[in-house]
Amino acid sequence: MNAVTLHHVTKRYGARTILDDVSLAIPAGQTVALIGPSGGGKSTLLRCINGLTTFDAGGIHVGQHLLMPRTSRETASAVRRMFGMIFQDFQLFPHLTALENVMEAPLQVLKQPRAAAREEAQRLLARVGLAERADHYPRQLSGGQKQRVAIARALAMKPQGLLCDEITSALDPELKCEVLDTLQELRSDGLTLIVVTHEMGFARRAADQVAVLADGRVIEYGSPDKVLENPQVERTQKFLRQVLA
Ligand SMILES: Nc1ncnc2c1ncn2[C@@H]1O[C@H](COP(=O)(O)OP(=O)(O)O)[C@@H](O)[C@H]1O
Ligand SMILES: [Mg+2]
Repeated sequence: MNAVTLHHVTKRYGARTILDDVSLAIPAGQTVALIGPSGGGKSTLLRCINGLTTFDAGGIHVGQHLLMPRTSRETASAVRRMFGMIFQDFQLFPHLTALENVMEAPLQVLKQPRAAAREEAQRLLARVGLAERADHYPRQLSGGQKQRVAIARALAMKPQGLLCDEITSALDPELKCEVLDTLQELRSDGLTLIVVTHEMGFARRAADQVAVLADGRVIEYGSPDKVLENPQVERTQKFLRQVLA
């Protein structure tokens, strides 16, 4: 079963075509690494899947929902709840502790009782290895810890998966590892992960599939072995030479 299926999705900004007839199926429970040159449309693709931006043609199945160029606000917000999105810059609430950050959406959006939200938030912080940091504010946490709080916060909405947009790009190498290891553990929990990354080691180790997006098109798709070790398309070969250099 596929968690997400894009059918001939085209997205334009003015006269520029940003996603050009993209078709892609993301199997449920798998990790897909989305790689490719800057400006290729990776962030836009994640935003389309999450109903955060509209597109001009095609359709996107997310679970039982279908996003179309003129999707209702209700469908878009239902889809948004199915996938948590995590960004490079964490976007934690600075005036809330780690625990309060994780509790916020369950309290405000799901209207969970405070005690239940707190208990679940504690469990999720433990899940990402931060039980001891529950009462710390974001400014008291390292970048890697902040990103793990952001992951716990996304999980608090009980999503089917996560959309991760270069979430380790701002981190030092040793902090990247703790975040990527956390993602790898989530995969074994059955979550579907779509991960935009420049970490080819992670893609090789943790991804079930790798999709290469360049100039708004998926130019190559397949297992890490196939795409990273034996790319067939010249543009992929060039990109890999650049990131691995
Ligand atoms: N809101 C926007 N308005 C106009 N152009 C945009 C907007 N968002 C992205 N773009 C353009 O779309 C292209 C793809 O961007 P993006 O999806 O961010 O690529 P990537 O994440 O692969 O670097 C870029 O050329 C970018 O300038
Ligand atoms: Mg981007």
